[in-house]
Amino acid sequence: MPAIIAEMEIVVPDEFEYLYAPDKNREILKVPNPVLRQKVLAPVKLNKKTQALIDDMIRFMKQANGVGLAAPQVGALQRLCVIAPMDMKPTALINPRIVKKDGEEVGVEGCLSIPGLYGEVIRAAYVVVEAEDRRGRELTYELEGMHARVAQHEIDHLDGVLFTDIVDLTTLHWAHPDGEPNRAE
Ligand code: NI
Repeated sequence: MPAIIAEMEIVVPDEFEYLYAPDKNREILKVPNPVLRQKVLAPVKLNKKTQALIDDMIRFMKQANGVGLAAPQVGALQRLCVIAPMDMKPTALINPRIVKKDGEEVGVEGCLSIPGLYGEVIRAAYVVVEAEDRRGRELTYELEGMHARVAQHEIDHLDGVLFTDIVDLTTLHWAHPDGEPNRAE
């Protein structure tokens, strides 16, 4: 896996500033909000507030046509994320840990917190994730391809890591979100 490079300054071109306007998708924090760079340390203790947070996150993710969303992206410093790549129904991963990684795969990623910016990221092709579900049950997920990619991207958010930290810089490009198929957020 590539090393984390120095945090780059993301300069939003004029043409894409509409994606960062405060009246659009204001539920989801955008760069350079410093909350996105905080590493979340304390494990989540499930309660009614957590359940409401998960419901909100699933709603915001769907509204934004995303395939995943991490709690820090909505300003909640909690070690949880939701993922819903392709056919998968929205699944909350609470206190997720990647316990096994295998293989490498290149794929295009974007991020709801950096709308309009895309680039290729090398990720493990296969991961085993242990996490609690929203009922507090300890589950193990074996994820491949796009599913594995989305889980790794979202779990990175819990450590304050954005895809732009590990992207292949030669592939980084701006595009309007509606025109970018098969993206991982
Ligand atoms: Ni993201």
